[in-house]
Amino acid sequence: MTIDLNRIRFNSLHEKVMSADQAISFIQDGMVIGMSGFGGAGEAKTVPLALAEKAKLHPVKITFATGASLGNKIDQKLCESHVIARRLPYQADPTLRKAINAGEVMFTDQHLSETAEQMKHHVIAAPHIAVISAIAITEDGQIIPTGSVGNSAVFAELADQIIVEIDNTINPKLEGVHDIYVPVKRPNRGPIPLTRVGERIGTQGIAIDPEKIVAIVFNDIPDTASSMAEADEETLAIAKNLINFFENEVAIGRLPENLGPLQSGVGSIANAVFAGFEHSNFKDLEMYSEVLQDCTFDLIDCGKMKFASGCSMTLDTSAQRVMQNFDFYKDKIVLRPQDISNNPELIRRLGIIAINTAIEFDIYGNVNSTHVTGTKMMNGIGGSGDFTRNAHLAIFVTKSIAKNGAISSVVPMVSHVDHNEHDIDILVTEQGLADLRGLAPRERARKIIDHCAHPSYKAALNDYFDRACEKGGHTPHLLNEALSWHAKFEEQGSMQ
Ligand code: COA
Repeated sequence: MTIDLNRIRFNSLHEKVMSADQAISFIQDGMVIGMSGFGGAGEAKTVPLALAEKAKLHPVKITFATGASLGNKIDQKLCESHVIARRLPYQADPTLRKAINAGEVMFTDQHLSETAEQMKHHVIAAPHIAVISAIAITEDGQIIPTGSVGNSAVFAELADQIIVEIDNTINPKLEGVHDIYVPVKRPNRGPIPLTRVGERIGTQGIAIDPEKIVAIVFNDIPDTASSMAEADEETLAIAKNLINFFENEVAIGRLPENLGPLQSGVGSIANAVFAGFEHSNFKDLEMYSEVLQDCTFDLIDCGKMKFASGCSMTLDTSAQRVMQNFDFYKDKIVLRPQDISNNPELIRRLGIIAINTAIEFDIYGNVNSTHVTGTKMMNGIGGSGDFTRNAHLAIFVTKSIAKNGAISSVVPMVSHVDHNEHDIDILVTEQGLADLRGLAPRERARKIIDHCAHPSYKAALNDYFDRACEKGGHTPHLLNEALSWHAKFEEQGSMQ
């Protein structure tokens, strides 16, 4: 372990350097711990891993808040040591997912912009201790975050005590890429002064009272590379459908030539869809999103994207290239706190095109992003609701079938609602695209079935809709059948 005191430029803090085992003595049973980390980037590592080890002999339970999901199997290890009583606001770990679905861990699945707001306004408990991943501490005591900002700024502001974890693996050149703006508490809040994607409105580091720092530890553990599935025939077709739609919107004057700021959801489908822009005619693209994935940097490299704003860099194939050539990217990206990257006020003001992935959607346009067959949590709503509700154009993409065709992603009624029919503008599968803007439910249903459903489920969906229409209603349904597709899958392993 390298202890590089040059990274602690506020000299009186040198005496706070200690081992992770010593630092975790500050963490007591029942505490709320707010930790850096978003999308597997920029999390603290040695402190949570030391806590997971210690808890095997000395049980401890905490409420564990982060920006979003974590890398380095931290959720898995904490979960296996039974450390996590409550987790918020997002996760993507198979072991933790199992514990959540078994009812062993309480999961507060939140819009990612809301954790900071709710803590600040005492709706949910603020952290007793913030564990903040840092590149450095500056001469005036500011903490410079690493590959994500997430909720680090608000955790550090609200916590009684701060443990700083300096990450030796992060290129110090990242200093300067962050823009930390923390909105003040209501009712004294004015408009957030951001009107363009590339504007900077805050400080380079997290300004705190250095007296709150009780421990500084170092780590040599790199962020985990994200693992993205390669684009396949279906995801390429989804991308093509979307790009054709955008080209047409520009041609008829409904979108500007560079489309306006884009947001991309997480996951393999979203990454593949964005990769589709590489082969399009669009240029000067801008991103105002949450996670900057490989596709962001690929689009910058090929000259299609001129600026990207996010709260985290979650990289796989581009990781080495981006970190080694960071000077090239530094004036083309900015990392902000997640209550700014996902802020509804800004999303509405900037006119974002939001592209997120659904698990399933129904014939009226309601979307389920989180619950498999309505009960089992997958990851969480993440930022998809922050963006969808407030976007200029709210788009959801998914493959029309899952599990080799045993599941139709277009169903009579979604088994769980994350995004409702009033918010959704466009639905896209590899089969086609349904533009729902301005349509009534009965018009939407026919369009969604015609354009988005897989051929093997079209007849059954039309049959359901026809019989529901005979019964009547503004949004016709057969209540004793609406969820029968999911029940059939649970009982027989197929919706067919
Ligand atoms: N029913 C059951 N399972 C389904 C399904 C359906 N209708 N549709 C997809 N799945 C399964 C897939 O089979 C796959 O399962 P596996 O992990 O066992 O292989 C899994 O869901 C992931 O699907 P995949 O097709 O690989 O898509 P993805 O990696 O793009 O993830 C979501 C899709 C919806 C899970 C993911 O985007 C997510 O968690 N979204 C919610 C949060 C969010 O939108 N955040 C972004 C905000 S900025």
